[in-house]
Amino acid sequence: MCGIVGAIAGRDVVPVLIEGLKRLEYRGYDSAGIAVVVDGAVRRVRRTGRVSEMEAAAGAEDFHAPLGIGHTRWATHGGVTEGNAHPHISHDTLALVHNGIIENHEAQRERLSRLGYVFESQTDTEVIAHLIHHHQSQGLDLLAALQASARELDGAYALAVIDKRDPDRMVVARMGCPLLVGLGDGENFVASDVSAILQATRRVIFLEEGDTAEITRSAVRVFDGAGAAVERGEHLSDVSLASLELGPYRHFMQKEIHEQPRALADTIEAIIDAAAFEPTLFGKDAEAVLRGIDGVQILACGTSFYSGSVARYWIEAISGLPCSVEIASEYRYRKAVANPKHLIVTISQSGETLDTMEALKYAKSLGHTRTLSICNVPESAIPRASGLVFYTRAGAEIGVASTKAFTTQLVGLFALAVTLAKLNDRLGAEQEAAYIEDLRQLPGSVQHALNLEPQITSWAEKFTLKHHALFLGRGVHYPIALEGALKLKEISYIHAEAYPAGELKHGPLALVDAEMPVVVIAPKDALLEKVKSNMQEVRARGGELFVFTDADSNFSASEGVHVIRTPRHVGVLSPIVHTIPVQLLAYHTALSRGTDVDKPRNLAKSVTVE
Ligand code: G6P
Repeated sequence: MCGIVGAIAGRDVVPVLIEGLKRLEYRGYDSAGIAVVVDGAVRRVRRTGRVSEMEAAAGAEDFHAPLGIGHTRWATHGGVTEGNAHPHISHDTLALVHNGIIENHEAQRERLSRLGYVFESQTDTEVIAHLIHHHQSQGLDLLAALQASARELDGAYALAVIDKRDPDRMVVARMGCPLLVGLGDGENFVASDVSAILQATRRVIFLEEGDTAEITRSAVRVFDGAGAAVERGEHLSDVSLASLELGPYRHFMQKEIHEQPRALADTIEAIIDAAAFEPTLFGKDAEAVLRGIDGVQILACGTSFYSGSVARYWIEAISGLPCSVEIASEYRYRKAVANPKHLIVTISQSGETLDTMEALKYAKSLGHTRTLSICNVPESAIPRASGLVFYTRAGAEIGVASTKAFTTQLVGLFALAVTLAKLNDRLGAEQEAAYIEDLRQLPGSVQHALNLEPQITSWAEKFTLKHHALFLGRGVHYPIALEGALKLKEISYIHAEAYPAGELKHGPLALVDAEMPVVVIAPKDALLEKVKSNMQEVRARGGELFVFTDADSNFSASEGVHVIRTPRHVGVLSPIVHTIPVQLLAYHTALSRGTDVDKPRNLAKSVTVE
């Protein structure tokens, strides 16, 4: 969703801002803008649509300045219009960009209107610009005015502010939305996501909840929520620029699908090196936390919810502990019964999904103290709020539709299931060695599945003109059917639903006819014969079947039954291998339908609002 970049330097920062906004495009947005302070004036350009359109407008106006802020907006309060796009300006003096939502904006708007402020947009953000201006007019300097305003705002925000009367600094604030400062040589930066400033620096300071900061060319001063000066550690970001480039691929989603063998190998490296599932995989105090638990509660959204749904099968079967999985936005608003001996596991690629974060906070408020985050973005909000952390090492994921994050999450969750089994004396040395061997083989098996791309491309052509599709799976592969349907609907806009195959005759069979392709995940496991019966139910109604099965299953193609064989059955990790073909099917179907694969309409990469 929304993205922030800002810079103060001895050079023209406009190219830095534009490049930063381009790096933030992947998060999903509908308008973009920049504001700069130059020659005692504040100047701004905003456009709906792509950053490139805003860039062209900035070029035409000959924008050059040593201080500026930029923003990509994903509309929440107020429609997609140029007037609602950020930066917002108060009294032609200060300009501000904002991520998040201000909950008491209406009350503040009324108050400021009474004070004579005139609003030009429908946004909650413009309130903040006028509020800071109001505090300045009461005699506070820019930083103090920001701090005073922050105390009066309810909700979530990351803010960056510049002022033409104060051209040697930028001030920023963070509450509930990520914000980091980038440290350069005689120049400094601010961004909501490190990818925006990697072009200039890797040295970053992550601001914490309630922090404000003053950023000049040569110094950064950070203050905590009480206004006291604090030191926040400097980190060297290991996000590689290469992970932000397309390279030889047509889309980031395609690149990220193909990166999975490497992403998986990186994520399992610590387990393979130790030749054991050690609790320390989840943090240095993990053993004490994990040993005492008597159940697991998983909370997540979107694709991460589906990885949690696979994990439920693994955790119960392998560790013997009960496990529930719940959509975070549901959990956070229901009167849940807390068992403090349950481990709360949040799963999030971005580490900043608002509903997942709020579900975690809610779980803690109910008395849960044992928390683990499975996350792909170091230092993001959710792992920072969790006691234990397992970082997936998928690298930056740019495509809105999650792919490599999902399969690497599965590896982390599998490791959790096995580690819990070990701590509960349910894992013999032989079985542990066998699981490690399964993991060692995994990147190779995934690569074999990727090699099926040409066959899957030919299937995708058959889906191009369809309006609906049904995905079936059973047991641990049912969530893979769900993930396949989600991928297809997200990027190709074909309506797709997934069902546990055994449920077919309780409703969805009524939908089956020659126009409804039915994709079946049918690995050679204990449920294969059951799945075959379900497929016959489809065939008998004239439905066309597209079956992904293992190379060693005794299953053959026939009239109306298309079969693609993934590598030989890989055992317990089979859901990971069977994810690859459904990702490829969605990708190639979207490609043939000509949709915007990496930035599907109406969707965002990081959902930082409700
Ligand atoms: C958005 C993304 C999905 C993602 C979901 C949860 O909907 O488009 O790809 O699965 O958010 O995000 P998270 O970062 O918490 O995994």
